[in-house]
Amino acid sequence: MAIFKRAKKSEETLSIKDIVLPQHIGIIMDGNGRWAKKRGLPRTAGHTHGAQTFRKIARYCSDIGIKYLTVYAFSTENWKRPQKEVDAIMKLFKDYLIEAITDFKDDSIVVKFIGDRSVFSDQMRELIEKNEEESKDRDGMVLNIAMNYGGRDEIVHAVKNIADDVKTGKLDVNDITDKLLSDNMYTCGQPDPDLIIRPSGEYRTSNFLLWQSAYAEYCIMDVLWPDFKSEDLDRALIEFAKRNRRFGGV
Ligand code: IPE
Ligand code: IPE
Ligand code: MG
Repeated sequence: MAIFKRAKKSEETLSIKDIVLPQHIGIIMDGNGRWAKKRGLPRTAGHTHGAQTFRKIARYCSDIGIKYLTVYAFSTENWKRPQKEVDAIMKLFKDYLIEAITDFKDDSIVVKFIGDRSVFSDQMRELIEKNEEESKDRDGMVLNIAMNYGGRDEIVHAVKNIADDVKTGKLDVNDITDKLLSDNMYTCGQPDPDLIIRPSGEYRTSNFLLWQSAYAEYCIMDVLWPDFKSEDLDRALIEFAKRNRRFGGV
């Protein structure tokens, strides 16, 4: 798989108005640390800029009519980082939660959080729930924010729920299907991602949407997340439109 570099202006022929857009986009918001390092700044500065990019790109996706956007903000493995960095990311997360409640009252975006929220403080959990509750009846894009999210952790949770139901006799082993597993994921009721974008040039999933991405198209981009622009999203969308998705068929 070749890395997807920024195209030269002359190479661009299609516009996003000419193409069919994916229903569900996933973004692994990666490269904040390298962005800061390149500028001689602390890694936390990269996260601050990355959080701004997230606001802009989420708004852009909603404006162009994307139905579902899932952003990977903090993984179940990211707790390994220095405490100072984890604290700074959690502070940015909290700031966003407060801002979203106070400033986005007339917004159309439905906000959801995916991941294991049981580890967060009561205050953070209340803010998460308030965001979900206040946005749940809106009719716009669904924005899934993956916080303390891990694809394996999500599958383990799903399997435990199902095993409990089998144990109590609510379910029979033969009731276990693909659909039942999907219904026990955090993304229950949502279509699988069609396109997953990873800025920063890394060729790995890093535990993002493992179950749901079975047939997602990947677009690896050589731009660090804080530098990511709406034009980069357009390029990924155009690249996606050129892919031949076969889903195992011919
Ligand atoms: C992504 O950027 C943000 C999180 C994982 C929380 P990184 O912090 O991983 O940036 P790099 O990969 O070190 O450049
Ligand atoms: C994935 O990025 C997690 C997020 C972007 C939130 P990482 O930076 O944690 O992934 P690795 O360590 O490069 O695989
Ligand atoms: Mg990284």
